[in-house]
Amino acid sequence: MPDMDTAFERYLQDGFVVLPGFKSADDIADLRERALQIVQDWDPGERRGVFSTHDQARTADAEFLASGDTIQCFFEEEALDADGRLTRPKSEAINKIGHALHDLDPVFDHFSHGPALAEVARGLGLASAQLWQSMFIFKPPSIGGEVKWHQDATFLHTAPCSVTGFWFALEDATRDNGCLWVQPGGHKGPLRERFVRQTGADGIDRVHMQLQDATPWPDGTTALALEVPAGTLVCLHGLLPHYSAPNRSARSRHAYTVHAVDARSAWASDNWLRRRPELPLRGFE
Ligand code: FE2
Repeated sequence: MPDMDTAFERYLQDGFVVLPGFKSADDIADLRERALQIVQDWDPGERRGVFSTHDQARTADAEFLASGDTIQCFFEEEALDADGRLTRPKSEAINKIGHALHDLDPVFDHFSHGPALAEVARGLGLASAQLWQSMFIFKPPSIGGEVKWHQDATFLHTAPCSVTGFWFALEDATRDNGCLWVQPGGHKGPLRERFVRQTGADGIDRVHMQLQDATPWPDGTTALALEVPAGTLVCLHGLLPHYSAPNRSARSRHAYTVHAVDARSAWASDNWLRRRPELPLRGFE
């Protein structure tokens, strides 16, 4: 682990910091095993959430909107045929599990909390961290989908902006299997979009993108590939533009993310993610 003071200085300057060796091989093995078990136990016949940043149809997907305080599996677009049936075993078709793993599953709860993470969060400026969202991301071989340039503050907005991403590499992440790409220093730019939830006249909740600032997304010339070994923690400022390419390789790229905000900032009531009051928000402790 690098010196924390240096790491936090880098975070302020670059909008991200890479902390290799943050999680042990045992912790990673436990988390991956548990994730595969959740997928095995999932019945895709009844519920077939598909996640894609291309697919605006998901904006009407009630299951997506209900997943803020549940555990839900989402499948890759390319794994479904025209009738929405899976074309391969679900373990090879899964895109991600979200979004309250850190509160509802004991193995994920253990991985997502503890003094080491609490210290990192405080160092990054989250004086009173609240964990809103967790995702196990599979990036399966061959069909793992692209995640386009975005800022996490688009999806989890507070005033002032405080959302911070904690991205754990559970397998070696390389250019071949779809590692993260970031724009160093890009967090000093504006928030470009907000993903806003609204109740329609028909009483149905939908989400849409709302333009905030027309600044273009970075091009390839300023993007930096974060090729990191399993066990690495990457912390991302909520305004840092980042993306990941499709995985066309023969191996998966498992990762786990937790997104936290600072409780001293104001949570936007029109964020897509909602929590039932019986599931109180917690910090990293
Ligand atoms: Fe992100």
